[in-house]
Amino acid sequence: MDAFYKSLLDNNKKWVENKLSIDSEYFENLAKGQQPPLLWIGCADSRVPANEIIGAQPGEVFVHRNIANMVVHTDINMLSVVDYAVNVLKVKHIIVCGHYNCGGVQAAMGNKSYGIIDNWIRHIKNTYRLHKEELDAIEDEGKRFDRYVELNVSEQVFDLAKTSIVQNAWKNNQDLMLHGWVYSIKRGIIQEIVSKVANNSKLDEVYQLDF
Ligand code: CO
Repeated sequence: MDAFYKSLLDNNKKWVENKLSIDSEYFENLAKGQQPPLLWIGCADSRVPANEIIGAQPGEVFVHRNIANMVVHTDINMLSVVDYAVNVLKVKHIIVCGHYNCGGVQAAMGNKSYGIIDNWIRHIKNTYRLHKEELDAIEDEGKRFDRYVELNVSEQVFDLAKTSIVQNAWKNNQDLMLHGWVYSIKRGIIQEIVSKVANNSKLDEVYQLDF
């Protein structure tokens, strides 16, 4: 068996022993249920582990990850996660967390075809189209890439706000705030790009739903 693969199971045993040495009922208590206050929508990138970078423990974060932390409103996976988080778990916060050096966003900046993934990356290109003037004006490619990452997070937060799930929760006065963050892989630091979106007033009128 290759050493890396084997180390995963060994590490798990050590982790269990460590948790039990601190609290002998640790897993029994976790097994009783979950009530996380937060839904995390992040990138699948291996360098951005949701729980670890915010110091969250098991039971504290409901997590959904995909390439480039996208909120695509026809994605039944994302919609199911958001519906369960908002309507069953009653999370108070949803954070869309992007990151600089995101391969998905970088691919969306260019024209190269990568196969079937092109069709997912197309959603990221919509952000470029919406902010073309601002992005094209940034001459430095690295800075343009960084800004594209930030704008993409912001667009995903507002795409989340456009969903019937989120707007219905707000209509029912449910305590629910949306936030957009960008994580720096180089520095480990998170920057708030959008915070505390708690109603649909910032959406274009055409997106505001009456219930
Ligand atoms: Co990424």
